[in-house]
Amino acid sequence: MSTAIMDTAIDWKRVCTLDEIPVLGSRVVRSTKHGDIAIFRTSDDEVFALHDKCPHKGGPLSQGMVHGKTVTCPLHSWKIGLDSGEAVAPDVGCTRPFAAKLEDGVVWLKA
Ligand code: FES
Repeated sequence: MSTAIMDTAIDWKRVCTLDEIPVLGSRVVRSTKHGDIAIFRTSDDEVFALHDKCPHKGGPLSQGMVHGKTVTCPLHSWKIGLDSGEAVAPDVGCTRPFAAKLEDGVVWLKA
């Protein structure tokens, strides 16, 4: 599922309610400024946002599996840290992280 947002200012934008993101899954926000941004939900109901593009060969991280605070890319199984966007060693690379937060059951994105 995806949501379109406007990029008129760098500020917190309401994305959706937490319930609209599956546990251990994601939701894609389409940003005209930054491209697709994947919002991930962990089993602890934490939310993280990353550019939806694997640092290896551009795989869609939003279609990967979340485990702990990492997501496994669906193409070649690199593991990417949700909080940093950095690949877990021995792989090397980084995708851009964005600030995301949860307040009163609502997910917010700063992009
Ligand atoms: S494109 Fe993600 S691991 Fe290769």
